[in-house]
Amino acid sequence: MRLNKYIAAAGVASRRKADELTKNGNVKINGQTVTAPGTDVAEGDRVEVNGLAVRPETRFLYLLLNKPKGYITTASDEKGRPTVLELITDIEQRLFPVGRLDANTTGMLLLTNDGDFAQRISHPSNETSKTYRARVTGVLSKEKLAQLRRGVDIGGFTTSPAEITLLKQTGSSAVVDITIHEGKNHQVRRMFAAVGSKVLELERTAIGTVRLGNLKSGHYRKLKKPEIEALLK
Ligand code: URA
Repeated sequence: MRLNKYIAAAGVASRRKADELTKNGNVKINGQTVTAPGTDVAEGDRVEVNGLAVRPETRFLYLLLNKPKGYITTASDEKGRPTVLELITDIEQRLFPVGRLDANTTGMLLLTNDGDFAQRISHPSNETSKTYRARVTGVLSKEKLAQLRRGVDIGGFTTSPAEITLLKQTGSSAVVDITIHEGKNHQVRRMFAAVGSKVLELERTAIGTVRLGNLKSGHYRKLKKPEIEALLK
């Protein structure tokens, strides 16, 4: 990063003022006075202005949104549906959703401007667990539940073991909590389709150990530091 941008990003001065400070000999890199404003600052360099170390703020933000039905998680939509980014109103940084939820799915969605974080959470090798509450058609027999737990063929792909708790069964529909450790497109809907059930409602209630809790639909909050750390574990 150019020295003037670096100093400005640290909140010390504008880029122009930073150039002046540099030309006037007030800036050191690794203990050496530098007077060329165009100098590059490398990773790990120590920059001092008037004898004080400065560093650009890394303003990474991590939000947990309770996504309402009908909102899409991609940046734009040819059908003109609203995007989740429209719900984030008081944040300056440009955020993007971590992974995707179907338009009809509600619940926990993470948004961030930290690309490394997003990649780590989404990368299949990390097997970050995701828990959903689903209301589905039909009767989930013991055999069907066992099949879903073991893994089902969702069209050219067999799902890995999942945890399922049957919460309610009526004559025509069931409510379950299901935790999966991968994230194929429409995975939960396809898993239930594989045992003859249609998903009527789908809500993501947790990612890893971080839970949606009682955040209202359309509302969001910042993740707490221990939550960010838990997700990266
Ligand atoms: N599985 C689905 O089928 N849809 C989602 O939105 C998330 C998981």
